Amino acid sequence: MKRVGLLTSGGDCQALNATMRGVVKGLSSNLDELEVYGFMNGYKGLIYGDYRLLGPKDFSGILTKGGTILGSSRQPFKLMREPDEKGLNKVEAMKQNYYKLRLDCLVILGGNGTQKTANLLREEGLNIIHLPKTIDNDIYGTDMTFGFYSAVNVATDAIDRIHTTAASHNRVFIVEVMGHKVGWLTLYAGLAGGADIILIPEIPYDIKKVVAAIDKRTKAGKGFTVIAVAEGAISKKDAKMSKKEYAAKLQKRGNASVAHELADEIKAANGPEVRITIPGHTQRGGSPCPYDRVLSTRIGLKCADMILHDEYGYMVGIVNDKMKKVPLGDVAGKLKTVSPKDQIIAEAKLMDICFGD
Ligand code: F6P
Repeated sequence: MKRVGLLTSGGDCQALNATMRGVVKGLSSNLDELEVYGFMNGYKGLIYGDYRLLGPKDFSGILTKGGTILGSSRQPFKLMREPDEKGLNKVEAMKQNYYKLRLDCLVILGGNGTQKTANLLREEGLNIIHLPKTIDNDIYGTDMTFGFYSAVNVATDAIDRIHTTAASHNRVFIVEVMGHKVGWLTLYAGLAGGADIILIPEIPYDIKKVVAAIDKRTKAGKGFTVIAVAEGAISKKDAKMSKKEYAAKLQKRGNASVAHELADEIKAANGPEVRITIPGHTQRGGSPCPYDRVLSTRIGLKCADMILHDEYGYMVGIVNDKMKKVPLGDVAGKLKTVSPKDQIIAEAKLMDICFGD
C-alpha cells in the first residue's frame, strides 16, 4: 500500500499530464493498493489543504493533453518562509497536510523555483521526488526537461511561418522566444527554423554586429533576415551594468520586451525597418510532442520505481539517455545555462549564424 501526493507548480508545459500518468501507471501495475492525492494549483493546494483523491480514470486519456489536470500557480520560493496575509506559517501548513494524509511521499513536478521549495520540504523531513518540468530546459543535473522539445516545436513553427512572409516581403523580422534567463529554447528553435541571427542571454550582443549581419545578407542579395531573440537576451552594453542598474532599466522598459528594444536599437544604428512577432505562451500550450511523451513516460516510470523502493530526496533526471536519481540537495538552486563554448554554438557559427558577439 502506498499513499502518494502529486502536485504541479510554476509555469505549466505540455507534458505534465503525461508524466503524472507515467507515475500512476507505473505504481498501479505493481501495487494492489494505491491512494493518489492530487493537490490543486501547485503548492497552494498543499498549503491550504485543497486536494482530491484521484482514481485510475483521472489518469486515463491524458497522455496527449496539454496543461495540468491539477492546475498550477506560482508560489515564489523566497516567500515560502514568510507567513501569508492571515499569518499562516506556510511551511508548517504544508507539513501538516502531508502528515494528515499519512503520505508515503510527495511527487512534485516543476521548474527551478518549484525545485527549491521541494528541497526545502525535503530538508524539513518530507519524502520528496522532484520531476523536472520546464520549456526552458534550465534545470541542472538533467540533460533534458519535459516540455522543452514541445516548446521547440511551437517556436520553430513560428519562425518557419515568419520565414515565408519575410521572404515574400523582403523584410527583417524579430521572433522573440521564451526561455527565462537562458537561451536553450531560442538556440534550438533558431537552429531548427534556420534563423540568421540568434541572440541569447549567455552571449551578450553588440548591436553593430547584428546590423552588420543584416547588411551582409542584403549585400549578398538576400532581402530578408530572421532574428530569433531570447526573452532574456542582453546587449554587451547592458551586461556591464550592475544587477541593480539593469533591474531598474527593465522596470523602466515596462511592458516593452527585448524584441522592441532590439528593433529600436537596429533603427538607431541605421539598420532597416523591423517587424516583431512574439509567440509568448503559445510555446507552453497544446499537446506534448512525441519526444516529450516518451521522456515523460520514462521519468514517470522511474519515479514510480523509486517510490516502490522508498528512494526519496531525489530529482529524476535523464543523463546520456539513462534515467538517473539526482540528489535534490546537489542541484536545487543551480541553473543549467548554454555555454558560449558549447559545440552547438561553434556548429551554428559554421552555418554563418550570427550571435552578435
Ligand atoms: O519558465 C517557463 C516560462 O514560460 C519562461 O520561459 C517565461 O519566462 C515564464 O515562464 C513566463 O512566466 P508566466 O507564465 O508567469 O508569465
